[in-house]
Amino acid sequence: MTEFTEANRKYFDQLATTYQDKFADSMKMLSEQTLSNRLWISDLWTDTVAQDQEIRMLEYACGPGNISMTLAPFLTQIIGIDVSDNMVAEFNRNANLLGLADKAISRTADLLTDDVPVDFAVAPYMDLDMLTVSMALHHFEQPDRALKQLGARLKKGGVCFIIDLVADSGHGHDHGHSHNHDHGERQREFGNAAHTVKSHGFSQESMRELFQGAGFGGVEYKVLAQPLVFVKDEKTFSKTAFMARAQRL
Ligand SMILES: C[S@@+](CC[C@H](N)C(=O)[O-])C[C@H]1O[C@@H](n2cnc3c(N)ncnc32)[C@H](O)[C@@H]1O
Repeated sequence: MTEFTEANRKYFDQLATTYQDKFADSMKMLSEQTLSNRLWISDLWTDTVAQDQEIRMLEYACGPGNISMTLAPFLTQIIGIDVSDNMVAEFNRNANLLGLADKAISRTADLLTDDVPVDFAVAPYMDLDMLTVSMALHHFEQPDRALKQLGARLKKGGVCFIIDLVADSGHGHDHGHSHNHDHGERQREFGNAAHTVKSHGFSQESMRELFQGAGFGGVEYKVLAQPLVFVKDEKTFSKTAFMARAQRL
Protein backbone atom coordinates (compact mmCIF):
# COMPACT_ATOMS: atom_id res chain seq x y z
CA MET A 1 0.00 0.00 0.00
CA THR A 2 1.41 3.40 -0.91
CA GLU A 3 1.68 6.19 1.66
CA PHE A 4 -1.18 8.01 -0.04
CA THR A 5 -3.50 4.98 0.05
CA GLU A 6 -2.50 4.42 3.69
CA ALA A 7 -3.54 8.03 4.43
CA ASN A 8 -6.92 7.27 2.86
CA ARG A 9 -7.23 4.04 4.83
CA LYS A 10 -6.56 5.81 8.12
CA TYR A 11 -8.85 8.74 7.37
CA PHE A 12 -11.81 6.62 6.27
CA ASP A 13 -11.29 4.07 9.05
CA GLN A 14 -11.93 6.88 11.52
CA LEU A 15 -14.86 8.28 9.58
CA ALA A 16 -16.58 4.96 8.87
CA THR A 17 -19.10 4.79 11.72
CA THR A 18 -20.33 8.37 11.22
CA TYR A 19 -20.00 8.57 7.41
CA GLN A 20 -23.57 7.58 6.61
CA ASP A 21 -25.10 10.13 8.99
CA LYS A 22 -22.75 12.86 7.90
CA PHE A 23 -23.45 12.43 4.19
CA ALA A 24 -27.03 11.14 4.48
CA ASP A 25 -28.61 13.72 2.14
CA SER A 26 -25.94 13.29 -0.54
CA MET A 27 -26.14 9.52 -0.36
CA LYS A 28 -29.92 9.62 -0.68
CA MET A 29 -29.66 11.85 -3.74
CA LEU A 30 -27.02 9.62 -5.37
CA SER A 31 -29.07 6.53 -4.64
CA GLU A 32 -32.19 8.09 -6.22
CA GLN A 33 -30.22 9.25 -9.27
CA THR A 34 -28.66 5.81 -9.67
CA LEU A 35 -32.08 4.19 -9.65
CA SER A 36 -33.65 6.64 -12.06
CA ASN A 37 -30.67 6.29 -14.45
CA ARG A 38 -30.41 2.52 -14.15
CA LEU A 39 -31.29 1.76 -17.76
CA TRP A 40 -28.93 4.49 -18.95
CA ILE A 41 -26.10 2.87 -16.96
CA SER A 42 -26.66 -0.64 -18.32
CA ASP A 43 -29.28 -2.81 -19.98
CA LEU A 44 -28.21 -5.90 -18.05
CA TRP A 45 -30.29 -6.30 -14.89
CA THR A 46 -32.23 -9.14 -13.32
CA ASP A 47 -35.49 -7.61 -14.57
CA THR A 48 -34.22 -7.13 -18.14
CA VAL A 49 -32.70 -10.56 -18.87
CA ALA A 50 -33.58 -14.24 -18.37
CA GLN A 51 -34.14 -15.03 -14.71
CA ASP A 52 -31.31 -17.53 -14.32
CA GLN A 53 -28.63 -15.19 -15.71
CA GLU A 54 -25.85 -14.24 -13.31
CA ILE A 55 -25.12 -10.51 -13.07
CA ARG A 56 -22.07 -9.79 -10.90
CA MET A 57 -20.87 -6.39 -9.76
CA LEU A 58 -17.75 -5.22 -7.96
CA GLU A 59 -18.04 -1.94 -6.09
CA TYR A 60 -14.48 -0.73 -5.54
CA ALA A 61 -13.81 1.71 -2.67
CA CYS A 62 -17.32 0.76 -1.61
CA GLY A 63 -17.47 2.47 1.78
CA PRO A 64 -20.77 1.51 3.46
CA GLY A 65 -22.09 0.38 0.07
CA ASN A 66 -24.71 2.98 -0.81
CA ILE A 67 -24.67 2.14 -4.52
CA SER A 68 -24.35 -1.60 -3.93
CA MET A 69 -27.40 -1.64 -1.67
CA THR A 70 -29.30 0.53 -4.16
CA LEU A 71 -28.63 -1.77 -7.11
CA ALA A 72 -28.81 -5.05 -5.18
CA PRO A 73 -32.39 -5.92 -6.26
CA PHE A 74 -31.22 -5.94 -9.90
CA LEU A 75 -28.00 -7.96 -9.48
CA THR A 76 -27.28 -11.54 -8.46
CA GLN A 77 -23.94 -11.02 -6.70
CA ILE A 78 -22.11 -8.00 -5.30
CA ILE A 79 -18.58 -7.80 -3.97
CA GLY A 80 -17.52 -4.67 -2.13
CA ILE A 81 -13.82 -3.91 -1.73
CA ASP A 82 -12.33 -1.10 0.31
CA VAL A 83 -8.97 -0.38 1.97
CA SER A 84 -10.69 0.48 5.24
CA ASP A 85 -11.63 -2.41 7.57
CA ASN A 86 -14.20 -0.22 9.29
CA MET A 87 -15.87 0.73 6.00
CA VAL A 88 -15.99 -2.96 5.07
CA ALA A 89 -17.64 -3.67 8.44
CA GLU A 90 -20.24 -0.95 7.70
CA PHE A 91 -20.92 -2.45 4.27
CA ASN A 92 -21.43 -5.92 5.74
CA ARG A 93 -23.60 -4.53 8.56
CA ASN A 94 -25.81 -2.77 5.99
CA ALA A 95 -26.07 -5.90 3.87
CA ASN A 96 -27.18 -7.85 6.96
CA LEU A 97 -29.70 -5.21 8.03
CA LEU A 98 -31.24 -5.16 4.55
CA GLY A 99 -31.36 -8.97 4.29
CA LEU A 100 -28.81 -8.90 1.47
CA ALA A 101 -26.04 -10.87 3.15
CA ASP A 102 -26.57 -13.81 0.78
CA LYS A 103 -25.71 -11.71 -2.28
CA ALA A 104 -23.59 -8.77 -1.06
CA ILE A 105 -20.33 -9.14 0.82
CA SER A 106 -17.36 -6.86 1.30
CA ARG A 107 -13.65 -7.51 1.87
CA THR A 108 -10.69 -5.34 2.75
CA ALA A 109 -8.08 -5.04 -0.01
CA ASP A 110 -6.02 -2.67 -2.09
CA LEU A 111 -6.51 -3.72 -5.70
CA LEU A 112 -4.50 -0.78 -7.04
CA THR A 113 -1.06 -1.98 -5.93
CA ASP A 114 1.46 -3.96 -7.97
CA ASP A 115 1.22 -6.97 -5.67
CA VAL A 116 -2.48 -7.77 -5.39
CA PRO A 117 -2.92 -11.14 -3.59
CA VAL A 118 -3.48 -14.00 -6.04
CA ASP A 119 -6.90 -14.90 -4.68
CA PHE A 120 -8.18 -11.68 -6.26
CA ALA A 121 -7.09 -12.88 -9.71
CA VAL A 122 -9.93 -15.42 -9.92
CA ALA A 123 -13.74 -15.52 -9.57
CA PRO A 124 -15.63 -13.78 -8.05
CA TYR A 125 -13.25 -10.86 -8.58
CA MET A 126 -12.76 -11.37 -12.32
CA ASP A 127 -15.02 -11.67 -15.34
CA LEU A 128 -17.46 -9.18 -13.88
CA ASP A 129 -20.55 -7.75 -15.55
CA MET A 130 -20.29 -4.45 -13.76
CA LEU A 131 -17.81 -2.29 -11.90
CA THR A 132 -18.83 0.71 -9.79
CA VAL A 133 -16.66 3.40 -8.21
CA SER A 134 -18.67 6.03 -6.35
CA MET A 135 -17.14 9.20 -4.93
CA ALA A 136 -13.72 7.58 -4.76
CA LEU A 137 -11.92 8.17 -8.07
CA HIS A 138 -10.70 11.54 -6.77
CA HIS A 139 -9.12 9.68 -3.83
CA PHE A 140 -6.98 7.47 -6.09
CA GLU A 141 -3.34 8.34 -6.62
CA GLN A 142 -3.46 7.46 -10.34
CA PRO A 143 -7.04 7.41 -11.63
CA ASP A 144 -5.89 6.43 -15.14
CA ARG A 145 -3.98 3.42 -13.86
CA ALA A 146 -6.82 2.54 -11.48
CA LEU A 147 -9.36 2.40 -14.31
CA LYS A 148 -7.05 0.14 -16.31
CA GLN A 149 -6.46 -2.20 -13.38
CA LEU A 150 -10.09 -2.36 -12.32
CA GLY A 151 -11.44 -2.38 -15.88
CA ALA A 152 -9.43 -5.52 -16.64
CA ARG A 153 -11.67 -7.32 -14.14
CA LEU A 154 -14.71 -6.81 -16.36
CA LYS A 155 -15.92 -9.14 -19.08
CA LYS A 156 -15.80 -7.70 -22.57
CA GLY A 157 -18.97 -5.65 -22.85
CA GLY A 158 -19.07 -5.24 -19.06
CA VAL A 159 -20.12 -1.83 -17.77
CA CYS A 160 -18.13 0.58 -15.62
CA PHE A 161 -20.23 3.09 -13.67
CA ILE A 162 -18.51 6.06 -12.03
CA ILE A 163 -19.96 8.73 -9.76
CA ASP A 164 -17.66 11.59 -8.83
CA LEU A 165 -17.28 15.34 -8.60
CA VAL A 166 -17.34 17.58 -11.64
CA ALA A 167 -13.97 19.29 -11.95
CA ASP A 168 -13.92 22.65 -10.16
CA SER A 169 -17.50 22.11 -9.14
CA GLY A 170 -17.82 24.22 -6.00
CA HIS A 171 -20.65 26.69 -5.72
CA GLY A 172 -20.49 30.11 -4.12
CA HIS A 173 -18.22 30.90 -1.22
CA ASP A 174 -16.19 27.75 -1.00
CA HIS A 175 -14.93 27.75 -4.55
CA GLY A 176 -15.22 29.33 -7.93
CA HIS A 177 -12.22 31.52 -8.55
CA SER A 178 -9.25 29.30 -8.90
CA HIS A 179 -7.87 26.59 -11.12
CA ASN A 180 -4.69 26.47 -9.09
CA HIS A 181 -4.73 22.96 -7.65
CA ASP A 182 -1.97 23.44 -5.12
CA HIS A 183 -1.98 22.29 -1.54
CA GLY A 184 -3.63 25.50 -0.25
CA GLU A 185 -6.45 25.19 -2.72
CA ARG A 186 -6.99 21.55 -1.88
CA GLN A 187 -6.98 22.39 1.81
CA ARG A 188 -9.60 25.09 1.30
CA GLU A 189 -11.78 22.84 -0.81
CA PHE A 190 -11.52 19.56 1.08
CA GLY A 191 -10.60 20.71 4.62
CA ASN A 192 -9.17 17.96 6.82
CA ALA A 193 -9.64 15.42 3.99
CA ALA A 194 -7.29 17.36 1.68
CA HIS A 195 -4.41 14.92 2.16
CA THR A 196 -6.63 12.06 0.89
CA VAL A 197 -7.61 13.78 -2.36
CA LYS A 198 -5.60 13.64 -5.57
CA SER A 199 -7.97 15.12 -8.19
CA HIS A 200 -10.40 18.00 -7.90
CA GLY A 201 -12.95 16.17 -9.97
CA PHE A 202 -13.30 15.16 -13.60
CA SER A 203 -14.71 16.93 -16.63
CA GLN A 204 -16.56 15.12 -19.39
CA GLU A 205 -13.41 15.31 -21.50
CA SER A 206 -11.16 13.92 -18.78
CA MET A 207 -13.56 11.02 -18.14
CA ARG A 208 -13.64 10.26 -21.85
CA GLU A 209 -9.83 10.19 -21.91
CA LEU A 210 -9.61 8.04 -18.80
CA PHE A 211 -12.12 5.53 -20.15
CA GLN A 212 -10.61 5.40 -23.62
CA GLY A 213 -7.11 4.97 -22.19
CA ALA A 214 -8.39 2.03 -20.16
CA GLY A 215 -9.97 0.24 -23.13
CA PHE A 216 -13.56 1.38 -22.80
CA GLY A 217 -16.03 2.66 -25.40
CA GLY A 218 -19.61 3.87 -25.33
CA VAL A 219 -18.71 6.63 -22.88
CA GLU A 220 -21.60 8.71 -21.51
CA TYR A 221 -21.37 11.49 -18.91
CA LYS A 222 -24.21 13.25 -17.14
CA VAL A 223 -24.01 16.17 -14.73
CA LEU A 224 -26.49 15.77 -11.88
CA ALA A 225 -28.89 18.68 -11.43
CA GLN A 226 -29.03 18.42 -7.64
CA PRO A 227 -25.83 19.40 -5.84
CA LEU A 228 -24.11 17.40 -3.12
CA VAL A 229 -24.43 19.45 0.04
CA PHE A 230 -22.50 18.70 3.20
CA VAL A 231 -21.11 20.37 6.27
CA LYS A 232 -17.41 20.29 7.10
CA ASP A 233 -15.62 22.27 9.80
CA GLU A 234 -18.92 24.10 10.43
CA LYS A 235 -19.03 25.32 6.82
CA THR A 236 -21.57 24.23 4.24
CA PHE A 237 -20.12 22.97 0.99
CA SER A 238 -21.95 22.38 -2.20
CA LYS A 239 -20.51 20.43 -5.11
CA THR A 240 -21.74 19.19 -8.43
CA ALA A 241 -21.54 15.49 -9.15
CA PHE A 242 -21.62 13.53 -12.38
CA MET A 243 -22.40 10.00 -13.43
CA ALA A 244 -20.44 8.36 -16.21
CA ARG A 245 -20.70 4.95 -17.79
CA ALA A 246 -18.71 3.05 -20.39
CA GLN A 247 -18.33 -0.47 -21.70
CA ARG A 248 -15.20 -2.60 -21.88
CA LEU A 249 -14.22 -3.15 -25.51
C1 LIG B 1 -15.77 9.23 -0.10
S1 LIG B 1 -15.75 7.53 0.29
C2 LIG B 1 -16.93 6.85 -0.84
C3 LIG B 1 -17.59 5.61 -0.30
C4 LIG B 1 -18.72 5.03 -1.14
N1 LIG B 1 -18.23 4.53 -2.41
C5 LIG B 1 -19.82 6.04 -1.36
O1 LIG B 1 -20.18 6.33 -2.50
O2 LIG B 1 -20.37 6.51 -0.35
C6 LIG B 1 -14.21 6.99 -0.39
C7 LIG B 1 -13.89 5.52 -0.09
O3 LIG B 1 -12.76 5.14 -0.86
C8 LIG B 1 -11.95 4.27 -0.08
N2 LIG B 1 -10.62 4.31 -0.69
C9 LIG B 1 -9.79 5.38 -0.81
N3 LIG B 1 -8.69 5.03 -1.49
C10 LIG B 1 -8.82 3.72 -1.82
C11 LIG B 1 -8.01 2.80 -2.53
N4 LIG B 1 -6.85 3.13 -3.05
N5 LIG B 1 -8.47 1.54 -2.67
C12 LIG B 1 -9.67 1.17 -2.14
N6 LIG B 1 -10.46 1.99 -1.45
C13 LIG B 1 -10.05 3.25 -1.30
C14 LIG B 1 -12.07 4.85 1.31
O4 LIG B 1 -11.69 3.94 2.31
C15 LIG B 1 -13.55 5.23 1.35
O5 LIG B 1 -14.34 4.17 1.83
